[in-house]
Amino acid sequence: MFMLEKISFAACVAVALSTGALADDKNGLGSNVGLGQPITESDIKPWDITILPDGTNLPPGSGTAVVGAKLFTDKGCVACHGEGGTGGANGAVITDIPLAGRGIEATKTIKNFWGSSTTVFDFIRRAMPWPAPRTLSDDEVYALTAFILEGNKLIPPGTVMDAKSLPQVKMPNKDGFIIRFPDRI
Ligand code: HEC
Repeated sequence: MFMLEKISFAACVAVALSTGALADDKNGLGSNVGLGQPITESDIKPWDITILPDGTNLPPGSGTAVVGAKLFTDKGCVACHGEGGTGGANGAVITDIPLAGRGIEATKTIKNFWGSSTTVFDFIRRAMPWPAPRTLSDDEVYALTAFILEGNKLIPPGTVMDAKSLPQVKMPNKDGFIIRFPDRI
């Protein structure tokens, strides 16, 4: 019994101390006990690459499908997505498959399924080429995005893709999604 009281007293002191420590911790978790260091803007920048559907956070730069078509070969995209992006070991990025009528069985592609054009940019920039993600410049990503959107007949030939034009591209299935928590967007 005595031991138990002693232990709980020690626990109370520990809680009191740690609560006090957190209250004094003005700069974030643990800075007053010498742990970690504040993160700087330049540390965050390479990780802050999420593009919202309305184009928020799109970087400067631009590109066209003509440039993108060359990059698609030069950067090795053809090895997995086939000549002209129409299908290879890892699926097509340029297709004309209808979604309607086949329900859940339909092959979902960028053209028939993706809800926003800016996701094409976001995805290529963060994940492709598969063996070497984050190696493309922003201009190259705009050009590859233009190539894929133009190949899918979602933009007129020659359209320059940049932070202004890309969010204006309307994807065919844009209204096919139900936003569960619209007020959180
Ligand atoms: C080594 C193979 C490989 C290479 C090279 C490659 N990809 Fe991919 N790509 C994949 C795989 C695998 C996926 C599916 C990834 C997933 O679903 O998470 C994919 C998915 C994609 C998608 C999404 C397709 C969809 O319908 O969901 C796009 C867009 C894309 N790649 C573009 C590119 C571009 C542009 C390049 C060249 C810069 C490239 N890929 C190079 C393997 C590759």
